[in-house]
Amino acid sequence: MPNVITDRVAVAEKYSLLDEYVIMVVKAGNVIDFASGSPDPRLFPKEVRELAQRVINEYGAEAFSYPPPLGLRKLRNAIKSLLNELGVSIPGSKVAITSGAVRAIELVSTLLLNEKTGAVAEEPTYSQALYPLYVMGREVKYIKLKNYKYLSTESLAKVLREHHIKIYYTVPTGHNPTGATFSSSIRSEVAELVRERDVLIIEDDVYRTVLGGEAPEPISAICAKHSHPYVYLGSLSKVLAPGFRIAYMLIPEGLFPHIRAIASNALTSSPLNMLIAYEAIRSGFLIKRIRELSREFKERMKALKDSLTDYMPDCASWNENAEGYYIFIKIKGVNMIKIFNDALKAGVGYVPGDAFLYNSVDDETARLCIARPNTEEISEGVKKLAKVIKDNIVNLN
Ligand SMILES: Cc1ncc(COP(=O)(O)O)c(C=O)c1O
Repeated sequence: MPNVITDRVAVAEKYSLLDEYVIMVVKAGNVIDFASGSPDPRLFPKEVRELAQRVINEYGAEAFSYPPPLGLRKLRNAIKSLLNELGVSIPGSKVAITSGAVRAIELVSTLLLNEKTGAVAEEPTYSQALYPLYVMGREVKYIKLKNYKYLSTESLAKVLREHHIKIYYTVPTGHNPTGATFSSSIRSEVAELVRERDVLIIEDDVYRTVLGGEAPEPISAICAKHSHPYVYLGSLSKVLAPGFRIAYMLIPEGLFPHIRAIASNALTSSPLNMLIAYEAIRSGFLIKRIRELSREFKERMKALKDSLTDYMPDCASWNENAEGYYIFIKIKGVNMIKIFNDALKAGVGYVPGDAFLYNSVDDETARLCIARPNTEEISEGVKKLAKVIKDNIVNLN
């Protein structure tokens, strides 16, 4: 018994590292925050107050009842039309609403994995998505993204050949933490590989909304064309509000009854929140907001790349094609964990790369996120960070 607790706590510590770094940055106060992936509160939609009032007036008790286990039907239908406007169409799919994207991963893993089968994910990756698998004691293998930019389909093929893998968890659009978006040809190769090896893809496409839908066709859509199962995930956290806890998954009809059988109303969102989201979509408010936000984030991302070019020393590198929220920087010769506190003192916070790495160690990396700082703050923040980095290079010599 004590061993189980020790093991679980040790694993949980690794998974909560991202949160811990973010909390340290927030607590430091008066710091330009490149750490948090939670949207800028200054961009919080004021219209939500009016939407909430309308829902309470018009839906009354329905808004405060128990939810159906896979979410309200009207929202499930509305999500399909929202996705259509974002270029995602997967004919024959069914939608389920979960309380955040991780609950969807939990449901699918519970359904599909046994003691002998495991999952594969990219390295680095959004650590918290895989936490349910570790809680269940399932094995996760990792495929390293080349130069923190590209997926090697040869590496994926090798892992799928050599291990009992049932699930491939992937973030192919505006990848967290590298900002990489996989090309159409890589997506086709991945779809072919998972078909050959009878693996189910969990495609976490949360950042398609952040990009206003400007991304290649989802891998899930390619799988669907070949009648191969898929799980396509998204969330309204980044474009409506994370506090609503509204994520969605699209799954083939055949998988739906099985997911329904193990779902419970504890895993979905509250009817009040779902109805607000429904009204936000039905009224056209959300798609308009998604378009506006994606323009804002594009400008912020440009500001980040320009500032990195202007201020960082030659030993710094990053993905020039990163998009969405994140850039993963590598600073040769500088330990980004060690200088974390110096950076906070200088007024800038980030997440060291170790929060996203499981199989490998690379202390010279960090994730910079543009969810919170505006373009002026981004430029000022990078300048401050570059100074801390340069001071530490000098200190080393
Ligand atoms: C790849 C990825 N998936 C899922 C989430 C979380 O989504 P949700 O707020 O719906 O739980 C995040 C949040 O940062 C993310 O980066």
